[in-house]
Amino acid sequence: MSERWTPDSWRKKPIEQVPVYPDRQALADTEKQLATFPPLVFAGEARSLKKQLARVANGHAFLLQGGDCAESFAEHGANNIRDFFRMFLQMAVVLTYAAASPVVKVGRIAGQFAKPRSSPTEKRDGKELPSYRGDIINDIAFTEEARRADPRRQIEAFRQSAATLNLLRAFAQGGYANLASVRQWMLGFVKDSPQSRRYVELSDRISEALGFMQACGLDLESHPELRTTEFYTSHEALLLGFEQAFTRIDSTTGDWYATSGHMLWIGDRTRQYDHAHIEYARGIKNPLGLKCGPSLKADDLLRLIDILNPDNEAGRLTLIGRFGAEKVGEHLSALVRAVKREGKVVLWSCDPMHGNTITSASGYKTRPFDLILKEVRGFFDVHAAEGTYAGGVHLEMTGQNVTECTGGARAISDADLNDRYHTACDPRLNAEQAIDLAFLLAELLKKVRSAQAKPMPAVAGL
Ligand code: TRP
Ligand code: MN
Repeated sequence: MSERWTPDSWRKKPIEQVPVYPDRQALADTEKQLATFPPLVFAGEARSLKKQLARVANGHAFLLQGGDCAESFAEHGANNIRDFFRMFLQMAVVLTYAAASPVVKVGRIAGQFAKPRSSPTEKRDGKELPSYRGDIINDIAFTEEARRADPRRQIEAFRQSAATLNLLRAFAQGGYANLASVRQWMLGFVKDSPQSRRYVELSDRISEALGFMQACGLDLESHPELRTTEFYTSHEALLLGFEQAFTRIDSTTGDWYATSGHMLWIGDRTRQYDHAHIEYARGIKNPLGLKCGPSLKADDLLRLIDILNPDNEAGRLTLIGRFGAEKVGEHLSALVRAVKREGKVVLWSCDPMHGNTITSASGYKTRPFDLILKEVRGFFDVHAAEGTYAGGVHLEMTGQNVTECTGGARAISDADLNDRYHTACDPRLNAEQAIDLAFLLAELLKKVRSAQAKPMPAVAGL
């Protein structure tokens, strides 16, 4: 891949998952207009995230990445964003405290709109229409009008992303994330759940620790790191015309950056090494994610690593495995071994959602919580066995009290799915399930930390 890269060099490559826009001129006009809009993020922030991810890749922190499967125009409200952020903070604080590990916080938010689909069309009662591809492209309603790809939606997605990011920045920096408020982040409906007792205990211990430090003479007010947090955004780089419009030169380094989000990932369906999505991704300097499914062979992965991270830079590439609980052992081990053998530095993350999707007896697309936990455990087991580092998780979750994944402490059953099944796309963990998972992760990570602290004796002591 020594050919010259430009923000539009992907246009000369074969491309998957591309929507058909009936009005090509309107699309071109929109992309031109988007290119004049201000960036959502600044290149320096993407560089800071890369540094943080390099710490994770080296085993010194943990990556928590998550959010909606797809954001929607209809659910763009302050409460939704606030509840998501509260849940995220709770998970992060559980991991930070219980596993004594810094947590790099990356939302699947403020730009996560475009969806790859298994079929370009959908049939219902003998009628065939284009598939729904996310609110940035068309509408979910099953009518011809709604399913038509409309470029103006890209403008709306940009504006929604800007507003979402603005509120997230305010929460992260403006006082909402203050560790003194750890108790207040608890969401109302979690309060009478089995997790709440554990969480209250943990928040009491944090308050005690802060009180103790203050009594020792430490001025908590003079430590902004206790009051603020760094929160980054990410989304799948799927709609490349939109991404190209936000690909800008960073004036301080002269490098190209995607400015639609801090971190971008390439999906499992669009990772062909000689196709458009990989071509686009290789030229931007942001940290990148690559989804790795069961069909990815070790040789293909190594080839992709060479294209996406030719300088073997730590923090540049996060490999997000999504194998399914039954397959993670075999498939992940093979990839981990190959990557280790070649001396490539990557961050290994686990997406326990996408490989564990089933259709329930009642016809809902769901994910059993037990299988999600099982894949996470399998992920930690593989890294323990291979001597590599289990660096993070990638989750689909919401701060709302939905019933989309079965199981969990409240044992959501197949019959309960109908109660509050709100996702426009894949089933998400609700806040209780997400916090439950955070406690499990904290336990697993704590074990890793204590193993790191006790190096093996050089000579077996008799
Ligand atoms: N600044 C630290 C961090 O982000 C500590 C911190 C402040 C924190 N507020 C937080 C940690 C909320 C988790 C959640 O890690
Ligand atoms: Mn999804």
